[in-house]
Amino acid sequence: MKDLVVIVRNVWKYYNYMGNRIPILKGVNMSLYRGDVGGIHGPSGAGKTTLLKILAGLDRPDMGEVIIEGYNLSMLDDEGLAELRTGVVSFIPQDYGLIEEFTVYENIELPLLVSGVPEEERKALINDILNYMGLTDKIKTKVRFLSGGEKQRVAIARALVVTPSLLLADEPTANLDWENAKKVLELFTKINRDFQTTILIVSHDARVLEYTNRRFVLIDGILKEV
Ligand SMILES: Nc1ncnc2c1ncn2[C@@H]1O[C@H](COP(=O)(O)OP(=O)(O)O)[C@@H](O)[C@H]1O
Ligand SMILES: [Mg+2]
Repeated sequence: MKDLVVIVRNVWKYYNYMGNRIPILKGVNMSLYRGDVGGIHGPSGAGKTTLLKILAGLDRPDMGEVIIEGYNLSMLDDEGLAELRTGVVSFIPQDYGLIEEFTVYENIELPLLVSGVPEEERKALINDILNYMGLTDKIKTKVRFLSGGEKQRVAIARALVVTPSLLLADEPTANLDWENAKKVLELFTKINRDFQTTILIVSHDARVLEYTNRRFVLIDGILKEV
């Protein structure tokens, strides 16, 4: 039997808007098996980022369950969720979440510092991942000098350096032209093949789904597999 990496059961999320409680996710169910590349397509405001943050343990649902690699997220306190993000699940935010004044090396080092990896090991891990991503020549460059495609690759490298089993990417192609977007999507395919990483990409661009084997549509808080 294939390994279930992600289980989402009847997840509801509400936000308060002008004194009203508005449902954003309306009973979302989904599952991903090890090695899946999932894609969620949906228009802006559909709830994609909200769902991805819940899967990353950066936000909590109002109702329902999320189980990642056997961890029921509702059983974990904030510290437990933070720990989950140092090796089980990595989240790549839409705006990359990099520190512009830090070098490529320093940005990728951050999650390793958080998880207390010793310096020599950090060096080796960062050099390996930079080599894999074709970014070795940018190692000492400050992030603010990089192109959008390079920033996206640094963000992916930072997410990968802790060897997560689940990689979540929020609109990874939104800031790129289609040529660079294709390169990033091909990179996800390669990462999936090389490391068996389970990947979930959300995007308002339906072309992203061509690079996935599990395809979902999220409209107005309702998720359907297509
Ligand atoms: N922290 C928040 N407080 C109130 N409303 C929010 C918050 N975050 C998102 N929303 C609203 O929830 C809806 C879904 O947002 P989001 O998950 O970002 O959608 P998507 O990523 O699909 O564009 C939007 O209408 C947005 O304005
Ligand atoms: Mg979004």
